[in-house]
Amino acid sequence: MDEPRYPRGEDGEAPWWTGVIYQIYPRSFQDTTGNGIGDIAGITAHLPYLEDLGVDAIWISPFYPSPMADFGYDVADYTDVDPLFGTLGDLDDLLSQAHRRGLRVVIDWVPNHTSDRHPWFIESRSGPANPRRDWYVWRDPRPDGSPPNNWSSMFGGPAWKWDEPTGQYYLHSFLEEQPDLNWRNEDVRHAMFDTIRFWLDRGVDGFRIDVAHFVMKDPMLRDQLDPPARPRSMGHPDVHGVYRDLRTILDSYDGERFSVGEIHLADPEEWASYYGTDNDELHMPFNFSLVKTPWDAGAVRDRVEAIEAAVPDGGWPNYVLGNHDERRIAGRVGRDQARVAMMLLLTLRGTATLYYGDEIGMQDQEIPPDAQQDPFGHRVPGEGRDGCRTPMQWDPGPAAGFSTAPAVDLWLPLNADWATTNVAVESDDVTSMLSLTRRLLALRTRMPALRSGEYRTIDGLPEGVYGYERALALDRIRVFLNFTNESRTFDLHPGRVLLSTDPDRTGVVDGSITVTPNEGVILV
Ligand code: NOJ
Repeated sequence: MDEPRYPRGEDGEAPWWTGVIYQIYPRSFQDTTGNGIGDIAGITAHLPYLEDLGVDAIWISPFYPSPMADFGYDVADYTDVDPLFGTLGDLDDLLSQAHRRGLRVVIDWVPNHTSDRHPWFIESRSGPANPRRDWYVWRDPRPDGSPPNNWSSMFGGPAWKWDEPTGQYYLHSFLEEQPDLNWRNEDVRHAMFDTIRFWLDRGVDGFRIDVAHFVMKDPMLRDQLDPPARPRSMGHPDVHGVYRDLRTILDSYDGERFSVGEIHLADPEEWASYYGTDNDELHMPFNFSLVKTPWDAGAVRDRVEAIEAAVPDGGWPNYVLGNHDERRIAGRVGRDQARVAMMLLLTLRGTATLYYGDEIGMQDQEIPPDAQQDPFGHRVPGEGRDGCRTPMQWDPGPAAGFSTAPAVDLWLPLNADWATTNVAVESDDVTSMLSLTRRLLALRTRMPALRSGEYRTIDGLPEGVYGYERALALDRIRVFLNFTNESRTFDLHPGRVLLSTDPDRTGVVDGSITVTPNEGVILV
């Protein structure tokens, strides 16, 4: 039998980052100061919950000093903590307490742009002769005074901001408060890699790299041509050198330090190129393809097969169903299918990234216009991301246990279902989404085949049912997911039920099964 293909860590076993990573949006997890905004101490306070839930690591979205134009994705200092979230001491405390519980800590690293309040940009902006001028992307206007090229900001409008006092434009792929760094400048490269070393020295286990593919652009900044022309404002092949260098730094530290890049690319081959030619770049580019795939058994199966085919030898797949930029999975597919989705996420071959609140089935919340916070939503109506960033729902008490502030003073309103959809209520209900998530995570830990086993699609199933096998040594686990709200009957090899989304299903399945509407079942 072929050796199963999974990465080996320092002890020869699958490294921690092949497990489950829980994403925390720090503003929304737990407020310990009563200002209506979550903080680092709030994350530390819930480490027992996360350990008990059974995840391997947490990834914390940015907590750096920031004017919060993009809620922390506009960094004004890469080596500190914003007072809103606490102190460096709080972060050290979080790291040591997490490590004591066997939890790894991944932090967000935002290399493409800084805040316009970052001292580097303030210097750069001060004039063309400033030594840091070239740390950002400055260009003269075209003869008619218009921007140097036709690139657009991801948040709408042109990607160039005119700077009257110095008579040049600067590039901002996102907000004008987020000027793009010039990664072709060696000093920028060194300064940014120093920020990585700062956190590695403090004991951080890994980095989620914000818009990782954006850091290298067309060196001549030529106009973007119409599709299907390749993008010129991102993803220039020189980007791979940046991540090879980053990998060298990570590998020079002990303890399996890790990188995952936020890379939205539809073409599986181009996406997979970020693993490197010899697995020498990112440990993984985030795989968002299931977020974009219609919720249909055939479409999801085709997508998984495409990912399995695209990941290079020695590379490791990963799956994401939601994050702080996307609609929540329970909002997209509904409560019943959200259970099927959780089973899918936690049983496919690959690292699973679980967005806070999805384990209890949180829904997107409609945010009234006067409560809207997200700058994207302000600039492009309908694109607001606040709905998936509402406060974590801990219990049925005031402010859902998120804060001691009155609910009306929270930075975003609570989801309307907080009194019933919350950790405390669901902990007492064996049929809840939280109980299902806990059982799935426990099963993944108990069954090495679920964590590291090979993937194989099971063919010949009725329309609307997706099935696959995970195999490791002699263990064979089969997963059947009913994407429809009707029952489906089919023949199969006998097996014992390990877990079903339908609490009534237990025992042995002999020769044929009728899966109930929206059921997912795992057999051994
Ligand atoms: C991707 C992040 O996930 C998103 O929240 C942010 O607005 C942009 N990058 C810009 O940093």
